Amino acid sequence: RRKVTIQTLQKMKEEDVPITMITAYDYPSALACSSNFLVDINLVGDSLAQVCLGYKSTTDLTLDEMIHHSRAVARGTTHPFLVADMPFGSYHVSLEGTARNAVRLVQEGRVEGLKLEGGSEICGTVQKLTGMGIPVMAHVGLLPQRHVSMSGYRVQGKDAESATRVVKDALALERAGAFAVVLEAIPKELAAHITERLRIPTIGSLYEFLTIFMAHGNLGIGAGPQTDGQVLVWDDLLGTWAGHKAKFVRRFGDLKSERDSAIQKYAEAVKARTFPDEDTESYAIDKAVWEEFL
Ligand code: KIV
Ligand code: NA
Repeated sequence: RRKVTIQTLQKMKEEDVPITMITAYDYPSALACSSNFLVDINLVGDSLAQVCLGYKSTTDLTLDEMIHHSRAVARGTTHPFLVADMPFGSYHVSLEGTARNAVRLVQEGRVEGLKLEGGSEICGTVQKLTGMGIPVMAHVGLLPQRHVSMSGYRVQGKDAESATRVVKDALALERAGAFAVVLEAIPKELAAHITERLRIPTIGSLYEFLTIFMAHGNLGIGAGPQTDGQVLVWDDLLGTWAGHKAKFVRRFGDLKSERDSAIQKYAEAVKARTFPDEDTESYAIDKAVWEEFL
């Protein structure tokens, strides 16, 4: 099996082979995503802000922080196609500024492609980057970087006007040169429709960390199963976090209880002085040498 490229992903769409994408934030998570050729795309998502760095919103994440983590992920990524989110504010001020920041993420962050949130209004930016040879992954529907102006983390495309806008945005972004598009928190029918109309792959997404901010009336809708691929946040997938779980989230593991139990056993062993073991887990000095030393 070989390195995943844009061409590989395009072929997967054409041959109806589902695309797997997972977020990675550091060297060990990247290594894990690279094992056994199971994951097609590694995303250094700006969910890094909440999941790894303890910020309240992705808008708190800086370009320097994203570069720092991307470099670590790049060291552990082998065959998956490696994409990083452009942080809030790093692709909005001017085309020149955007180009400079994108080059930094590629050269210093060592990623292959960049993901940008937004619709038709960012097509000029997408064209600029793709024109430079930087592959762009689009992201429509729920845009976490705009949660303030969108009045919260809400499912998008639930009425005709909003659905039309999401479809138009996806088509425009494809025309602007995007190689794939993430569909976040839109009705499954709309996601299936967009997947059908686009030539490029669509990837359905919804992350649990967001749902703690979502109104309960909106729960129960991700982008559904009829996209070309799925993306899950590392911590949601592994169950390293055990807060409110939305209906549409599936935890494929329960690392939180494993982790907590390991820490508890370690602490108990230290308090009981049963760790480390005198014989099997300690070093000893030659008796004669020790007596002379004394
Ligand atoms: O930041 C992120 O993790 C994402 C994915 C959930 C698509 O953008
Ligand atoms: Na993101």
